[in-house]
Amino acid sequence: MAHRRLQRGEKIVIASHNSGKLREVAALLAPHGIEVTSAGALGLPEPDETETSFLGNARIKAHAAARAAGMPALSDDSGFSVAALDGAPGVYTADWAMRPEGGRDYAWAMSKVHDLAQHATDRAAWFTCALVLAWPDGHEEGFEGKAEGVWVWPSRGAHGFGYDPMFVPHGRHETFGEMDPVEKHRISHRAAAFALLAASCLPPAAG
Ligand code: IMP
Repeated sequence: MAHRRLQRGEKIVIASHNSGKLREVAALLAPHGIEVTSAGALGLPEPDETETSFLGNARIKAHAAARAAGMPALSDDSGFSVAALDGAPGVYTADWAMRPEGGRDYAWAMSKVHDLAQHATDRAAWFTCALVLAWPDGHEEGFEGKAEGVWVWPSRGAHGFGYDPMFVPHGRHETFGEMDPVEKHRISHRAAAFALLAASCLPPAAG
C-alpha cells in the first residue's frame, strides 16, 4: 500500500512532552521543511500509555494528539533494554525513573539498572524507538529503529538525555552521553526509525 506523505511547509504537532525527544525530533525534521509545534505548547493532555509495545504506545500518543490538534501528529515511544534483565526496563523505561515522591530522576534510574544487572556477564543493551505519524482522519504510518551496544558503569557524559550516559553503541568507545549530539543523531535508534519515516512519508531534505 502506498505511504501517505507530508508536503513541504506543512505543520505537524510533535506528540511529546519530553524536552530531550522534542529537541532531537525537531532537529531531524528541520531539513525536510516541516513546521513543528509541540503537544506541550498546545496544552494537549498526555494520554496513558497502556500498550505493551513501543509501536502500540506510539500509536496511542500520535492518534490522541492528531485528533486533539486537528493536524498530523508525530509521536516517539522509546526505551532502553538490557539483555540480562530480559529486555527491561523496555516500555517501562520512563516509569523506572519516577521517584515515589514525584519527578523523574535518571541518575537514580540508571543506578537501578546497574544494581540489578551488575553480576551478569552479558552486558548487551539496546535502545528502541517507534515513530508513528497519525492524521486526524485516523490514517497512520509507523516505523521502528534500534541502536545496539553495551551498558557501562559508572555512567559517563553530560550530553543527550535519559539513559544516554550508560550506553556505548557497538563499534564506539564513548557513551551517547559523551558524544557530540550530531554524532548521536547519525547512529541512534531515533535516527534509524527517522530514516525509514523520511523515506516513506517526508518530502526530500533540502541541501
Ligand atoms: P516514553 O516517553 O514513554 O517513550 O519514555 C522513553 C524513555 O526512554 C525515557 O525515560 C527516556 O529517557 C528514555 N529514552 C528514550 N530515548 C532515549 C535516548 O535517545 N537516550 C536516552 N534515553 C532515552
